Amino acid sequence: AHKRVPFIAGNWKMNLDHLQSIAFVQKLAWSLKDARHDFGSAEVAVFPPFTDLRSVQTLISADKLELAFGAQDLSAHDSGAYTGEISGAFLKALDCQYVIIGHSERRTLHNETDEVVAAKVAAALRHGLVPVICVGETAEDLEKHGASAVPVAQLRAALAGVTGAVDIVVAYEPVWAIGSGQAATPDQAEQVAAKLRETLVEILGDDVAAATRVLYGGSVKAANIASFMREPNVDGALVGGASLDLDEFASISRFHK
Ligand code: G3P
Repeated sequence: AHKRVPFIAGNWKMNLDHLQSIAFVQKLAWSLKDARHDFGSAEVAVFPPFTDLRSVQTLISADKLELAFGAQDLSAHDSGAYTGEISGAFLKALDCQYVIIGHSERRTLHNETDEVVAAKVAAALRHGLVPVICVGETAEDLEKHGASAVPVAQLRAALAGVTGAVDIVVAYEPVWAIGSGQAATPDQAEQVAAKLRETLVEILGDDVAAATRVLYGGSVKAANIASFMREPNVDGALVGGASLDLDEFASISRFHK
């Protein structure tokens, strides 16, 4: 059986400029260092805005910090006449390991369709980045179709054309739970995470499904992280608001099952 390394990911969204990012990452790494022996196993990653990535990379590599990082989006294209876009090649050159794809804010505010999300997942994999694929239902979807139908359909669409031993992360973020202070219950998160894993089995096979981390996101805080981490199919969290508060994010990263 696979032992999945828990993953705590902080999505900063459009917060913290590059100077603030340096101060934040330094303090975070310092605060996690002390605790590392007692929480031991979680991988912690930050997802700053594009303009911070070079600073974060420099700091993490110079000080050999045990922190991973990634971008919040990427272009579906590799290079060329796409004004304002950022290529996966550029992210890879900055040592990004991860890239968030299909966040609900991109789907709604930037009209990203399932097709766009799939093209971005393919671009990430092409450039050796691990896509953190976000899926989740709105309150209306929940009422009409139940919790898992939309996330499962979004995952299938995002993985169109993906085969083989791919390294991906899936984040289940119910839209109604994002930034609302109203998190899903651990049981709700587990139900959907289990369905997402079944979908991974179907598309990518048992081994990839067993190795893939499925995160929960939506109003995760220090006070509720342990309850999510106790669920067998929830392997970590994608944290928004609480990832901007140093003490809060540090204690989420130190969750105890
Ligand atoms: O990507 C994480 C995010 O959408 C969840 O936000 O503020 O509810 O933790 P928040």
